Amino acid sequence: MKIAILASEGAPYAKSGGLGDVMEALPAALARIPGNQVALLLPYYKKIKDNPVYPVEQVAQFYVALGWRQQYAGIYRLTGRTDGVQVYFIDNLYYFGAREGAIYGDLDDGERFAYFSKACLDALVALDYIPDVIQCNDWQTSLVPVFLKAQYYPLFPNTKCMYTIHNIEYQGWAHGDFFDDVLALPWEYRSCLDMNHSVNTMKGAIETADLVTTVSESYARELMYPYYAHGLQGVLCANAGKLTGITNGIDTNTFNPQTDPALPAHYNSQSFATGKAACKAALQEEVGLPVEPDVPLLVMVTRLAGHKGLDLLCHIARQLIEQETCQLLILGTGEAHYEQFFLDFQAEFPDRVCAKITFNLALAARIYAGGDIYLMPSKSEPCGLSQMNAMRYGTVPVVHATGGLRDTVPGVDENGQNGLGFTFQSYNADDFFGALKRCLDLYRNHRECFRSLQYTDMQQDFSWDKPAERYMELFRRMLGQ
Ligand code: GLC
Repeated sequence: MKIAILASEGAPYAKSGGLGDVMEALPAALARIPGNQVALLLPYYKKIKDNPVYPVEQVAQFYVALGWRQQYAGIYRLTGRTDGVQVYFIDNLYYFGAREGAIYGDLDDGERFAYFSKACLDALVALDYIPDVIQCNDWQTSLVPVFLKAQYYPLFPNTKCMYTIHNIEYQGWAHGDFFDDVLALPWEYRSCLDMNHSVNTMKGAIETADLVTTVSESYARELMYPYYAHGLQGVLCANAGKLTGITNGIDTNTFNPQTDPALPAHYNSQSFATGKAACKAALQEEVGLPVEPDVPLLVMVTRLAGHKGLDLLCHIARQLIEQETCQLLILGTGEAHYEQFFLDFQAEFPDRVCAKITFNLALAARIYAGGDIYLMPSKSEPCGLSQMNAMRYGTVPVVHATGGLRDTVPGVDENGQNGLGFTFQSYNADDFFGALKRCLDLYRNHRECFRSLQYTDMQQDFSWDKPAERYMELFRRMLGQ
């Protein structure tokens, strides 16, 4: 099958969050399936362009019509990749190539990614790569199925389009004028993009794509409700027949405690007792916490954003440190008030609390390995990847039972068995604390059970092999095969 994957970020070239990880592993997993041809199209951001480890050759150039604008596009093929995925970068100095800093957040993001979506379709034509299936992701490429239906249909008569929602919070809202000024689509496409007289590009994708997926089965169900769907519940209910959840995997080659170059000691599910103890001691030393092998080390690697459940953690933090003998280590950056909270908390309890307000992938790996208990009380979580990383490294998760957390971390019973971690159902601080206390009790008073839970967690198959097969099933369904 000929597949084109379109996204605004993909590791290792450009990544701001989980979408970037998925765009690293999913194309590779699809390319491993015999008979598949996979192309991945990404913007040519300045930081990719400036990076000498990504050699490219130019393979096409043309102009993209965007309303009254004619914008240049250069197509560059990455030459160094050997795993069967053809990576193409879309070059435009104005939209991507000359901008410093974060990849999103500019005032003209709507226009930038409308350009990217259209340029991708033009690029496929220029490359004479007419795929069976286009898979596009999140609001940034949500105009792809709309353009495909409205304007590119004759060039792609047999191509089907899957649209994947990684997070419904960011929908691609624009002023109503955007429709004529930037998109210049035939008027009959106004209604699929219109929401309260503004343009909502994610709505357009849900209505025009052949299938819509999201990144876990529970999140697919949750999206039917206003609490989770941020206004799009009606659109999703009306299109429920098209919506499926496929739970993400993780890159089990990168995230492998037996080989991870970031770790001071290596281990597997047989040897983790000594391996993890060595990683824990080294981690405590590295971050300046007392090296105490039997004090439970609670860890969190996260963006410091409200929906990650930080309000719950802040609420119980003092009680936790005063009532329970434990250490708390947090790595991440984000909203200033959370950064300040954890820095102040560290200043108050320097022997118990450590806040690393930075982005550091190697330290993140050492935290997955050196921690005992992984906290992820997210208010909502489409899938979440770090709970799977943590389990792969033998760190027991405590999670809010929502979205992908519910699907990947079934809760244990009262004996700490028949599950993979500790869960709480309703989003409140007491319930979170309750789940955490049950976990601490197992750690302190039933260490053998805790060890066997760690073992079970490490035994799970979180690889992309099965999810990639599920994507293939849906691709075949779209193609009527
Ligand atoms: C988004 C979601 C996260 C998911 C990731 C990859 O970042 O918030 O839950 O794991 O996308 O699909």
